Amino acid sequence: MAQSEVTTHRVIFGNCQDMHEVASESIDLTVTSPPYYNAPFDYPGMYKDYDEYLKMLSRVSDELYRVTSQGRVACIVIDDMLVDGEKLPIVADCTTIMRQTGFRYRDRITWVKPKGYSRISRRSGVLVQHPYPMYYYPDNIQESVLIFQKGRFDYKLIKEIDSTLLSQSKIDSVAFNRNEWNLTVWQITNVLPTNNPLEKGIAAFPEELANRLIQLFSFVGETVLDPFLGSGTTSKASAALGRNSIGYEMNYGLKERIVAKVGFNDSVKISSERRHDCIAPIAEKDLNLSTPLKRAGGHSLR
Ligand SMILES: C[S@@+](CC[C@H](N)C(=O)[O-])C[C@H]1O[C@@H](n2cnc3c(N)ncnc32)[C@H](O)[C@@H]1O
Repeated sequence: MAQSEVTTHRVIFGNCQDMHEVASESIDLTVTSPPYYNAPFDYPGMYKDYDEYLKMLSRVSDELYRVTSQGRVACIVIDDMLVDGEKLPIVADCTTIMRQTGFRYRDRITWVKPKGYSRISRRSGVLVQHPYPMYYYPDNIQESVLIFQKGRFDYKLIKEIDSTLLSQSKIDSVAFNRNEWNLTVWQITNVLPTNNPLEKGIAAFPEELANRLIQLFSFVGETVLDPFLGSGTTSKASAALGRNSIGYEMNYGLKERIVAKVGFNDSVKISSERRHDCIAPIAEKDLNLSTPLKRAGGHSLR
């Protein structure tokens, strides 16, 4: 792992539907997880309806296409959402939107959370109460990692990468084999609210998830974008792997948590900007942390 060089991490507090601070074709990889449509713990009622949510995804997709370098990848961690007893096909709709924008659909990894660890709504309990046909609703312990690509990567470009950076970018084959990165199913423990107060009330994804994607799709010294930065997991993993990062986050109230999570030392430089369209700090009391299931970072409803 490359640790020697200084990496920079820019956090822009504002709405990522407009990422004008990021130059076109300047991003080497995106790793992100959009808010889950009208999840009660995130921003209840934030989207008037599902159509408005899809329009937001569509605008972000346009911006992602503009900022992504030719041949490079955008990874979106997302899942279908159960709202008022209806499953909304967010994975399919997000895939369609990204394809309509111009991205190629490269792959889908299924991220599986451990049975015992997942904090999910126990929908299967219905069948326990009514052990008859038609009462089956499975408990969801997975999310999708959708991998999109802007055109095709020119592998000849690898010859132009500085030899030190290239050798530092070599994939950790021990981790690759031991943790079965070769499969379309990744078993990774989800973030538990009790583990780290910096992730409390945020549907954070595990650092291991960002870690794998960053190693697999970017080179040391490159720049990783997360338009929905949340607690700053992508920036933290980027710093640890010798990559720079840019993150957008609408909630200015997360600033201190992001800075604390990413860390700040001689080799990790973090800066932040506050735009007019970010929202003011959300008070802890408004984060709806009183219900344990809701505190699980959104896993309750997926
Ligand atoms: C699912 S969380 C991301 C969690 C993140 N992956 C982590 O590990 O901490 C989504 C985040 O996107 C932010 N957000 C929602 N809509 C946004 C927008 N239009 N622009 C920027 N940030 C937004 C929310 O405030 C929330 O922190």
